[in-house]
Amino acid sequence: MNIDLLNNFSGASVLVIGDVMLDRYWWGDAVKISPEAPVPVVRLTKSSIATGGAANVAANLRGLGVHTKLVGMIGIDQEGSLLADELEQLGIGIDLLIRSDARPTTVKTRVIANNQQVTRIDQEANEPIESVAEDEVITVFSSQLEKCDAIVVSDYAKGLLTTKVLSALIDKANSLGKPVLIDPKGKDYSKYQGATILTPNRHEAADACGISEAEPDFVSKAGSRLLSELDCRAVLVTRGEDGMSLFQHDSVLHLPTTARRVFDVTGAGDTVIATLAAGIAAGADLVVASRLANIAAGIVVESVGTTHIRLDDLRGAELDA
Ligand SMILES: Nc1ncnc2c1ncn2[C@@H]1O[C@H](COP(=O)(O)OP(=O)(O)OP(=O)(O)O)[C@@H](O)[C@H]1O
Ligand SMILES: [Mg+2]
Repeated sequence: MNIDLLNNFSGASVLVIGDVMLDRYWWGDAVKISPEAPVPVVRLTKSSIATGGAANVAANLRGLGVHTKLVGMIGIDQEGSLLADELEQLGIGIDLLIRSDARPTTVKTRVIANNQQVTRIDQEANEPIESVAEDEVITVFSSQLEKCDAIVVSDYAKGLLTTKVLSALIDKANSLGKPVLIDPKGKDYSKYQGATILTPNRHEAADACGISEAEPDFVSKAGSRLLSELDCRAVLVTRGEDGMSLFQHDSVLHLPTTARRVFDVTGAGDTVIATLAAGIAAGADLVVASRLANIAAGIVVESVGTTHIRLDDLRGAELDA
């Protein structure tokens, strides 16, 4: 494909807005069954952290060398500081992260004993943010829209992306001619009306349209319906092992996955929207950017552990392709 395009990534700038999360892993050995309850006792040997949700989309963009800023909300807690430090180390601008005493940092802690996940503990608030916080979020992103080449909205339904926040964002971005890419959640997509591109996975697309996954061709039906109802330029439905389908008003393009073996599919959706945004911000058309996103997803699912894409991996894969 186009090596010049990859070279343009370092000159591109993307603003990410969404539900940021901290992924935490507690690793250990299962030493015995607890005398207190029928659960294993795990002796902790190490802990590690990784970016999650919108923070992971930002990490993918940074991995591609794109100038990346992140608007999100974290709590005034230790986990919030850990996440901010991690983002800073990755080279992601954190001055737009809002620290709130009204909610904790979203944290997903996985306990892994003898390399098997034993349990996951979630710390989160997911009610919509208060009206004052909505205004603060709108003020923060409004100052950035002119400077960026594309905006990514990463919605994990934790309450940041209210109808008011989304409609202010989409209106302002549209009036400045900046593309808005949204990774959606939930059943009601009317709040995404007027966005440029939506990237639901096949389950989310079916759910949003009330179409059963047992119906033949449910992806095509859902993709076309979302495209016509939401006034978007395109809908990219990711289909797990079946790759992805790009719905535009005059065409549908199916891209099979490029993965040859699969180790870990966690976070592949974050890689898809990040690479798509990087491509568009660097001047690629939708088809080229989607092909690139598909290749990037193929690379991350082949790697062990949640990883984000890196420019060098993409260069290598592209040269092979
Ligand atoms: N099992 C798989 N085999 C091959 N490719 C895969 C597989 N799962 C995911 N992919 C690749 O990753 C892309 C995104 O995956 P998927 O459709 O599962 O998104 P997602 O459900 O949003 O992911 P997540 O929520 O885990 O981030 C797919 O379009 C495909 O290219
Ligand atoms: Mg997803």
